[in-house]
Amino acid sequence: MPLPSHVKIVEVGPRDGLQNEKQVVPTEIKIELIDRLADAGLKVIEATSFVSPKWVPQMGDNSAVLAGIQRRPGVTYTALTPNLQGFDGAAAAQADEVAIFAAASESFSRKNINCSIAESLKRFEPVVSAASALEIPVRGYVSCVVGCPYEGAIAPEQVASVAQTLFDMGCYEVSLGDTIGVGNPASVQRMIEACARRIPIGKLAGHYHDTYGMAIANIHASLQSGMAVFDASVAGLGGCPYAKGASGNVATEDVVYLLDGLGIETGIDLAKLAAIGDWISSAINRPNGAKAGRALCARTL
Ligand code: HMG
Ligand code: MG
Repeated sequence: MPLPSHVKIVEVGPRDGLQNEKQVVPTEIKIELIDRLADAGLKVIEATSFVSPKWVPQMGDNSAVLAGIQRRPGVTYTALTPNLQGFDGAAAAQADEVAIFAAASESFSRKNINCSIAESLKRFEPVVSAASALEIPVRGYVSCVVGCPYEGAIAPEQVASVAQTLFDMGCYEVSLGDTIGVGNPASVQRMIEACARRIPIGKLAGHYHDTYGMAIANIHASLQSGMAVFDASVAGLGGCPYAKGASGNVATEDVVYLLDGLGIETGIDLAKLAAIGDWISSAINRPNGAKAGRALCARTL
């Protein structure tokens, strides 16, 4: 299959990247991060989540973040919403798009959102209806698409079944999350094939954490399977509070470097992005997890 000529990158650093930080990151830093990412050419930015602040205190400033950013025309600012209460908060704060999130593993579902997979899917129905009434697009996530920190390997058919329910419910795109970054090109391609038998490949996205250093290889394999939407986090920030030891998402800088090299259009300014990765890593006192970002910054020193 020919590689896609254009790829959409969903920047999840401000949400997935920062949600795991123990120290509360000042709201102004989050706002600056989002504004700078938009300036670097990111067109979809997951800005925050409207989850319980008791569960994830870091995202407790969700409304202030969305109120503080400078909205650029053509940029979609999205937010994660686990239930109707979260959706109402996101809609009031004028999120352009929301995301609901389910898991392919029962144990992870319980740890992450305190209910079974079936209960979560039921809980999402009113969110999708409310969003549809307000014409707010809904994206779906499936977590643990290759492996689960509690249950081990997850069957591709189980992933495909949850993904299909989200798609049939009205999610315009379903993002497949290798939450603990255990996938490799072979297991990721098997999982994508199972999903693509039920959902058009153009409606699927890859969301790969980089715990075992396979995320870039997994993106390349996914491109070969025809996938053209990937989630990434500047400087490789992040991890999941309910998946101990999991690394952040694949670094956006590394993804853009790969895509530039393959001649695939992203519309993102890699030099600006690398500088943002360097800045946010120092601002939150973390090593910069983007290999391409570190290399580019070293060249300009
Ligand atoms: P629960 O305790 O079962 O909720 O949590 P509840 O409905 O029983 O309500 C309990 C309390 O929470 C109540 O407050 C509610 O008002 C409040 P109280 O009466 O005790 O004062 N509450 C809320 N507050 C604010 N916003 C809300 C909300 N909902 C209830 N939306 C719940 C269930 C889903 C809320 C909780 O488990 C939760 O917030 N979980 C989120 C966990 C999370 O954010 N995980 C990380 C994101 S997922 C991820 O990273 C994976 C992904 O990146 C893909 C991948 O990598 O695989 C997407
Ligand atoms: Mg994630």
